Amino acid sequence: MLSDVAEVPHLLFVDDEPALRAVMAQRLAERGFEVVEADSGERALQLLDQFAFDVIVTDLRMPGLDGSRVIEAARERYPGIVAIVITGYGTVKDAVDAIKRGASDFVAKPFQFDELLHVLQKALEQRRLRSENAYLRSQLEERYQFGGILGRSRPMQTLFQLLETVAAASSTILVTGETGTGKEVVARAIHQHSPRHMHRFIAVNCSAIPETLLEAELFGHVRGAFTGAVGTRQGRFEQAHRGTLFLDEVGTMSAALQMKLLRVLQEREFERVGESHTTKVDVRVVAATNSDLRRMVDDGQFREDLYYRLNVIPVHIPPLRERKEDIPLLVQHFLDKFAPGPPPDSAAAKAGAAPAARPSLTVSQEAMRRLMAYHWPGNVRQLENAIERAVAFSAGRSHIDVVDLPAEVQLVPEAVVPASVTLPEEGMDLGAYMGNIERELIQLSLERTGGNKGQAARLLNLNRTTLVEKLKRLAR
Ligand SMILES: Nc1ncnc2c1ncn2[C@@H]1O[C@H](COP(=O)(O)OP(=O)(O)OP(=O)(O)O)[C@@H](O)[C@H]1O
Ligand SMILES: [Mg+2]
Repeated sequence: MLSDVAEVPHLLFVDDEPALRAVMAQRLAERGFEVVEADSGERALQLLDQFAFDVIVTDLRMPGLDGSRVIEAARERYPGIVAIVITGYGTVKDAVDAIKRGASDFVAKPFQFDELLHVLQKALEQRRLRSENAYLRSQLEERYQFGGILGRSRPMQTLFQLLETVAAASSTILVTGETGTGKEVVARAIHQHSPRHMHRFIAVNCSAIPETLLEAELFGHVRGAFTGAVGTRQGRFEQAHRGTLFLDEVGTMSAALQMKLLRVLQEREFERVGESHTTKVDVRVVAATNSDLRRMVDDGQFREDLYYRLNVIPVHIPPLRERKEDIPLLVQHFLDKFAPGPPPDSAAAKAGAAPAARPSLTVSQEAMRRLMAYHWPGNVRQLENAIERAVAFSAGRSHIDVVDLPAEVQLVPEAVVPASVTLPEEGMDLGAYMGNIERELIQLSLERTGGNKGQAARLLNLNRTTLVEKLKRLAR
């Protein structure tokens, strides 16, 4: 019931009516709350002094200190406390007043227990999302990044260490990874952390420039070197002198250019197109590719000697689906980018206006589960686009929901939460154990699909025939 609240919430129930208080306290306890009762506002303040409650539920009208004063005091002490007020008949104005003083929500008398429970759960969920957000944001600011590359997963942390070490040297680096994994961000971070950062970072996308022009682009040309070469022009290598040259999509270079590139890497010198004079440069090359260069070498499409010259330090960025722990962090980063919350000292806040400023946007847990279950063939770039789109679709709401996500992400079945497993002291029969789990999941999928084997197989990401075989085997 309160499954998504990690610990038992401690609740302070304040009401001067003993009968109502006792009934509510008991029912809340049945629902997993740890309840302490107070019969007056004064008593509530004493208890608040001694204990950091998660939740306070208080009647509004009480002899002595009234409920909204109690809430104000509670929020002053514990800004994160969830505060709910119980109001009397038709006293909406009082409820509004209490909310201004920091209450999260209210229930009006007479109320059913379920109403109160619903309001409580909603408020707790909101608080959880808020604190999760604050937590993620603090992680963003701290250690989970390297020069603008975010990542908390083990492979990314290892990558950061590697980058830290290799950035200082001038060795050539080959960055590999699927499309959208962040090869360019990595190249820039290397430059930023290197002693070359005062000089230029020049990026050339080898696949975006027509073959015939790439040589002149890289090495420059003199006037009249070819049709259209009206003046003398510096190439990218010269522009990157003492800095870093990022050669993107290096796998698409022609054989002739591969030869020339090899020479620059070996000799650190080249000739401009149409010139015999040799130019010397000091450039660090970071190359990137999303094709399998090793395979291209084997297939005779890429020079082996050049491959080794480029691959002095290999840096591989794993696809996003292999580091799902990074998804919440990246999502938060893109939310901040596309839906920045109001600055804390915005004009509205200064003018003391009602807290109308738009709260920062969050992602519902269900939407986050989908985001984490999807396989992201376009990696971080695709995730970035999905969040940008979701921000637009969620206009006016405080949450991004499943419906705001791209269709292919919505459709992915939620990942199964792995049950916590333990290995008994005396050992176990793994086959039988796995068989039981398999049987249970197959049964659940058949129940959900009304016995339709095709649909059930899809729910489990199996072929229909595999499912049928499993059914036969499990029936034995
Ligand atoms: N770890 C990361 N942290 C933050 N942003 C990232 C990260 N990885 C990628 N991005 C963002 O994702 C987008 C794609 O990254 P980038 O252009 O570096 O990918 P790529 O590997 O060069 O892709 P391609 O092979 O398609 O050129 C960029 O907007 C980049 O800022
Ligand atoms: Mg790129």
